[in-house]
Amino acid sequence: MIERIETLSDQVDTWSAQDLKELDDLRVKYLSKKGEISQLFNDFRSVPGEQKRLVGQKLNELKDKAQQRLSELKELLDSQKQSNRNYDLSRSAYPYPLGTRHPLSIVRNNIIRIFSMLGFTIAEGPEIEDDWHVFSSLNFPPEHPARDMQDTFFIEKNPDLVLRTHTSSVQTRVMEKTSPPIRIICPGRVYRNEAISYRAHCFFHQVEALYIDKDVSFADLRQLLEYFCKEMFGEDTKIRLRPSYFPFTEPSAELDISCNICHGKGCPFCKHTGWVEILGCGMVDPNVLENCGIDSSIYSGYALGMGIERIANLKYQIKDLRMFSENDLRFLEQFRAAH
Ligand code: DAH
Repeated sequence: MIERIETLSDQVDTWSAQDLKELDDLRVKYLSKKGEISQLFNDFRSVPGEQKRLVGQKLNELKDKAQQRLSELKELLDSQKQSNRNYDLSRSAYPYPLGTRHPLSIVRNNIIRIFSMLGFTIAEGPEIEDDWHVFSSLNFPPEHPARDMQDTFFIEKNPDLVLRTHTSSVQTRVMEKTSPPIRIICPGRVYRNEAISYRAHCFFHQVEALYIDKDVSFADLRQLLEYFCKEMFGEDTKIRLRPSYFPFTEPSAELDISCNICHGKGCPFCKHTGWVEILGCGMVDPNVLENCGIDSSIYSGYALGMGIERIANLKYQIKDLRMFSENDLRFLEQFRAAH
C-alpha cells in the first residue's frame, strides 16, 4: 500500500496540463469517486490495524498534495490566459525608437578603424595636463609665440596645469613610457579659450597619430595620408601637402584634400580653390624625441593631428559647429543610416 502511495505521489510531481480539459482529466483520473487516489481510500479499510495510523497519514498527505497541485496548475493556466490576452500581435516588434550614433562617434570610429588596419593602437591621456606635456616637451619654450596660437585655459590655482589644447600631449606621455617602435593614435577632447560661434567652440575633438621607428621618412607619412584620405573620403580623393610650421615637427606640413563637394572644380565650400584643409603633420622634431628619452640619432618618426569636427564637417557638410554639442534630436536622428 505504502509503495502504491509513493508511486502516485511521484506521478503527482510530474503532472502538467496544457488546458482546462487536460486539468480536468487529471482530476477525474486521480481524485474522482473512482479515481486512483479515491480507490486507495477504499482499500484502506483492509489495512491491518497497527499500520492504519501510518498509511492513513500518508494517504491524506497524498490527497492534499494532489489537490494542491491541481489548484497550482489551474492558477498557472489562468495567468497564461491573462497574459495571452495582453499580447497585441499586430504591434511592431520594436515599439521603442532606436537611438543613433553621434556623428562625431561615427567619424572617430571610422578614423580608428582605418588606422587600426595599419597596425596603430589607441593611447589616451588626461584632459587636465601639465605645461610639460602640452607645451614644453613639444618644443614650445616659455614665451614662445606659438603658445599664442592655442588659446589656453589655465587652472587658476595652479598655473602649471592647463586644459590640454591638443592631443599632441599624449605623444609625449607615450614616448616617455615606451621605447620604439611606437605606432599609436590618440583620440580625445581638447579645449581652447575661443568665443563660441558657428566656426569655433571652446572644446572639440582631435585624433593624433604617431609613428616612431628606425628609418621612418616623409615618404612613409605621405603614403599613410594618401591611404587614410582615400579610405575616409573615397578612392578618387586627391591630396596635396603645403609647407607649414609646428614647433614639434620639422619639416611640417598641412594636408589638403580635393574638395569632396565639387570634386576639385571649385565651389563656395572650398572658396573656389578646389581644395580643403584637413590636418597638420610632419616629421617629429629631434628635440621632441630627445625630450622624451628617445635617441634621435637612431630613431625618427612622423606625427599628425586632425580635428574630428573638421572631418565630420567635410563628410556631412555640417556648417555650424555648435550643432555637435546641442543634442538636438532633429539633427542627431539624421545619422540613423550612418554607422
Ligand atoms: N597639435 C596640432 C594642433 O592642435 C595639430 C598637429 C599638427 C598635430 C601637426 C601633429 C602635427 O602631430 O604633426 O593644431
